[in-house]
Amino acid sequence: MPASQSMIRNLLSTHQLSTADIERLLQQGASYLQWLRSGRKPRLNTLDDVSVTLAFFENSTRTRISFDLAARRLGAEVVVFDAAASSLTKGETIVDTIHTIEAMHSAQILVMRHNISGIHEQVQPNVSARLVNAGDGKNQHPTQALLDVLALLDAGVNFHGLKVVIIGDILHSRVARSNLDLLTKLGAHVAFCGPDHLVPAEFDSQIAAKFSHVDQAVEWADVAIALRIQLERMIEAFIPSTTEFHERFGLKRRHLEEKPRLMVLHPGPINREVEIASEVADAPQSLILRQVECGVALRMAVLSEIASTL
Ligand code: CP
Repeated sequence: MPASQSMIRNLLSTHQLSTADIERLLQQGASYLQWLRSGRKPRLNTLDDVSVTLAFFENSTRTRISFDLAARRLGAEVVVFDAAASSLTKGETIVDTIHTIEAMHSAQILVMRHNISGIHEQVQPNVSARLVNAGDGKNQHPTQALLDVLALLDAGVNFHGLKVVIIGDILHSRVARSNLDLLTKLGAHVAFCGPDHLVPAEFDSQIAAKFSHVDQAVEWADVAIALRIQLERMIEAFIPSTTEFHERFGLKRRHLEEKPRLMVLHPGPINREVEIASEVADAPQSLILRQVECGVALRMAVLSEIASTL
C-alpha cells in the first residue's frame, strides 16, 4: 500500500475516521480476510523491519492475540509486554515504561489497552511510537467496531438504512461508543436497549430509538449487538441479578424463532445465559466467531496502513 497524506498515522478513536478512511480500511481488511482464508502463505513481508509492541495493561484474549497474529503475519517483529510481570508493579509509570520499550527500538507501532479512558491522548505527546488504541476504559475500541462492520459486510449486509440495536450495559461500553459512531457514519440507524441507568442520556440525539425491553428491540432491529455485563467495572447495585437481567435484556431462542433473519453479534467474552443464551450464541445467526476471524484481518489492515506512513 503506498504511503500518502490520507493514510491514518495513529488510531485512537473512530471519531478521527472519515468515511473514506473506513471504506479503505474495510476494503484492505476484506482483502486480508480472503488471504487468510486461502491459507496459501504463512506470512507476508509488508511489515518487514517494523517493530510492534503490544502493551496490554488490562486483560484481553481476542484483541491481544489477533494483533499479535496480524503483526506476525505481516512479517513484523513483535514484543508482547506483560504488565502483570513488569516493573509497573514496582511503581514505574506508564510513560516511563513506554520510553523504556522505545529505547530498545522495539516500538515503531505501540498497540495499547488500558482501563483509563483517554489514556492514549494523554501519553501521545510524550511518545514517538505510532499509537493504536486496543481499548481504553469505557471510551473507545476502534478496531472492535471496524471488525464488527467487516463481519457484517462479510455476511452480505448493506449498511444504508440498516437497523442495529446495541443491547445491555451501554454506560460502561467502549464498544457501544465506537460502534454508534462508525455505524452511523456508514448510514445505519443505531438504537440502544438496556436498563435506564445503563443507557446514558448523552447519546439521545445520536440514536434512532431507545428500548427498555429486549423484545421491543429485536422486533425493531435487523442486527443485534449484545454487550457483556462488565462485572469487573460494576458495582452490584447496577443490576439486581443476572437472572433478572437475562429475562429483560438477554437474547433468547424465541427471538430467533420470531425473527430468523436477525444477525447477532457480541464483542466477547460472552456471559452465557446473562446477556445471551447459549442457543443464540451458538446459532447460525450468530456472527461471534466470524467477528473473531475478521479481527485478525482488520488489524492487519490497520497495522499495514500505519506502517506505510513510517
Ligand atoms: N472484544 C474484546 O476486546 O475482547 P478481549 O477483551 O478478549 O480482547
